[in-house]
Amino acid sequence: MKEQLEAIHSAAKQALDACSDVKTLEQIRVQYLGKKGALTGILKQMGKLSAEERPAMGQLANQVRSDIEQALADKQQKLSERLLKEKLEAETVDITLPGKETKIGSMHPLHIVEQEIREIFLGLGFSVADGPEVEYDYYNFEALNLPPDHPARDTQDTFYITNNILLRTQTSSVQVHVMENQKPPIRIISPGRVYRSDAVDATHSPLFHQVEGLVVDKGITMADLKGTLELLMQRLYGEECKIRLRPHHFPFTEPSAEVDIICFHCHGEGCRLCKGEGYIELLGAGMVHPKILEGCGIDSSVYSGFAFGLGLERIAMRRYNIGDMRLLFENDYRFLEQF
Ligand code: DAH
Repeated sequence: MKEQLEAIHSAAKQALDACSDVKTLEQIRVQYLGKKGALTGILKQMGKLSAEERPAMGQLANQVRSDIEQALADKQQKLSERLLKEKLEAETVDITLPGKETKIGSMHPLHIVEQEIREIFLGLGFSVADGPEVEYDYYNFEALNLPPDHPARDTQDTFYITNNILLRTQTSSVQVHVMENQKPPIRIISPGRVYRSDAVDATHSPLFHQVEGLVVDKGITMADLKGTLELLMQRLYGEECKIRLRPHHFPFTEPSAEVDIICFHCHGEGCRLCKGEGYIELLGAGMVHPKILEGCGIDSSVYSGFAFGLGLERIAMRRYNIGDMRLLFENDYRFLEQF
């Protein structure tokens, strides 16, 4: 039996020396120390030995077992160290290689202009109101003094969803929401998307942006409107910027005006850019029609107000000298990274 044990011992050692992967290592463990392994087989025969022989053989068998176990553990350790080393070598990063540049992008010109307008009005004590883009006919038209048969509706080619639900054609709808929910004094702006069923060209897009403004309080006059818009334009386009109010018609303001700014190019002389006018049209405005105030539960004999609506694209295009509105929506990186 002694010879058998020694034979197992040296065979196991030899196998371990030759072993170079964890799979074989496990096979060796099973082969020698497993339940049906060589060593277990020998131990089962212990019973056949005489009482004198047994202690010495038992001791030898235990020693062989712990020796093999130790050798297995050592090998296991060596193999995993080698595996780790190989892995580290395979995953080496060459820190001398040039890095990959990450593009961080830039602010969209519409966003820049909107932020600036917000800042200017927040500084004047206005707050920012929000309204739904999918809107009831009532808020987009009817409450703004545009009943179903009103001809002015035709100028706003509308995307209808149902007979009385549509994509809003103007942020003026927010005026009504605000006046229904808030009592004067009111001082808000409302930037947002609006939709009209227009074909895309250099100056039209079916989706564009407006900023609405509304002030309602006691004693508000046209002078407040003019002063506010003048300040806005001077902040946006420089201190020398002059504005001009021309009579116009909007159903929800009385009187109404179109607001022009002096032409940057000819400073009022008249040139090709302003088509000889000296001024360039920029937005619509007026004194809130008493009917609109009353419709929202505001006493028009006590309160008056002004409102205006400007197109953000137009402001941005003038500001940055952009000749074609499509550039604002195409997301061409070469265009966008200039801002
Ligand atoms: N909503 C108008 C439009 O889209 C612009 C406008 C004009 C807004 C006069 C106003 C206003 O608040 O008073 O053409």
